[in-house]
Amino acid sequence: MKGKFITFEGIDGSGKSTQLRMLADALRERGVDILITREPGGTPLGRRLREAFLETEETVAPMAELLSFAADRAQHVEFLIKPSIADGRVVISDRYADATFAYQGAGRGFTEEQVNSVITLATGGLKPDLTLFFDITVDEAIRRMSVRPEAHAKRNRMDEETAEFYGRVRVSYLGIAGREPERFKIIEAGRSVEAIHADVLEMVTELIDV
Ligand code: ADP
Ligand code: TYD
Repeated sequence: MKGKFITFEGIDGSGKSTQLRMLADALRERGVDILITREPGGTPLGRRLREAFLETEETVAPMAELLSFAADRAQHVEFLIKPSIADGRVVISDRYADATFAYQGAGRGFTEEQVNSVITLATGGLKPDLTLFFDITVDEAIRRMSVRPEAHAKRNRMDEETAEFYGRVRVSYLGIAGREPERFKIIEAGRSVEAIHADVLEMVTELIDV
């Protein structure tokens, strides 16, 4: 099979990690050679960076944050994503460059030009074949996060952000869908886990033809 690159995006609490696990199980069952990964923290260096700049109480300058996500991504693209695609695997990443566009661009206020140039530097222009955006209202995402078991995910600095911040991030993601409708698909994520999974599987099997 030809290698493919699929990314999952959404505001925190949108349910994308749950859906990623379900998709991974379904694809493995069909014998698809997949690599599941994430940003930040898909490589050993990335995990150390993640701990240093995200899972910290220290105040991190917005520019340091932007460049740290980019450093994590550069390592991820070079040593994991590109080689795996070249090996014919289906790579599925929990977040990628669109997250920088939405969180550091709309969230932190970097200009489109700044964010795009950093993303291009980090990725060498590598774009996903398909991106699924799990769209949910900020209120529902906050509700889900409040009932999420503590052990589920280590808290990080982004979890402290305001509803207004997440609102900007969501609008920014929706803007990408308007500009790149072929690649960037909106999944209505306020529904049941099973209904969402059915849509995810349909879109992915359309791409990888299994
Ligand atoms: P994300 O990775 O986008 O932050 P998670 O998959 O961790 O989101 O889901 C956040 C919380 O919401 C978890 O407690 C999860 O069990 C729950 N959840 C996920 N999908 C749904 C859904 N469709 N309906 C209700 N709760 C959900
Ligand atoms: P994580 O625990 O991986 O969250 P989630 O399970 O919701 O993906 O935390 C990653 C956080 O970093 C999340 O709030 C999104 C944010 N982020 C950015 O701000 N910019 C980026 O480029 C990426 C990849 C993530």
